[in-house]
Amino acid sequence: MINLQRLRFQPDRRLAFLQGFLKYPHLVGSVIPSSRFLERRLIDSSGVENARVVVELGPGTGGTTRAIMQSMPREARLLAIEINPQFASLLNSESDPRLSVYHGSAENISEALAVNDLGAPDIVVSGIPFSTISSHLGRRIISKVWDSLAPGGRFVAYQFRDRVALIGRELLGNPQVEVEFLNVPPMRFYRWDKPLDKVKKINGRKYNTAQGEIASNF
Ligand SMILES: C[S@@+](CC[C@H](N)C(=O)[O-])C[C@H]1O[C@@H](n2cnc3c(N)ncnc32)[C@H](O)[C@@H]1O
Repeated sequence: MINLQRLRFQPDRRLAFLQGFLKYPHLVGSVIPSSRFLERRLIDSSGVENARVVVELGPGTGGTTRAIMQSMPREARLLAIEINPQFASLLNSESDPRLSVYHGSAENISEALAVNDLGAPDIVVSGIPFSTISSHLGRRIISKVWDSLAPGGRFVAYQFRDRVALIGRELLGNPQVEVEFLNVPPMRFYRWDKPLDKVKKINGRKYNTAQGEIASNF
């Protein structure tokens, strides 16, 4: 198991983050990684303590990733999807067997889950800077995330600006909003909960639980 205290202060990770920003400013969106207060808020608002499958979009150099691994159950799995090859290779050096790293874009979430033999996630968290990527790509990412989430699952996006909320509101409805002030700059958290499936299988037959009767057209 990794030593979280030791990793938190690794200056080379901070330097790697800054170098990532200088190379791809619109993708990284920040010169420093998230604070530990933000990591705490992310854990609290996502509910990873009870998850089976978690997906993290834009893990960067791994501060938020390690906070998630520390809080999720022993038997849970975490899939980290990172577009920057240097960040992805840093994440690959983590020794926790519950972590799988996919180098590629968040819009390929279904493929990333399939190649890692993972089912629908309960929780998807995102640090991707939606304000600096194109709206078209942002829309595609949000709809793919929503399609891949398990019924009853949760999508949490943390952002300096509100672009993700504007796109998300169009596609998913109004989010729950929280702000973490102990971060530079303060960070907003937007949360959408996917409704539970209205269709349930009982003794091999499918029931429409919303209407309380057997659906005949399955
Ligand atoms: C603001 S950093 C967040 C890093 C880390 N989660 C944190 O909070 O410190 C945004 C990250 O999203 C990644 N990213 C941007 N666009 C992406 C995409 N389409 N798919 C996957 N990762 C992406 C960037 O490379 C960067 O690592």
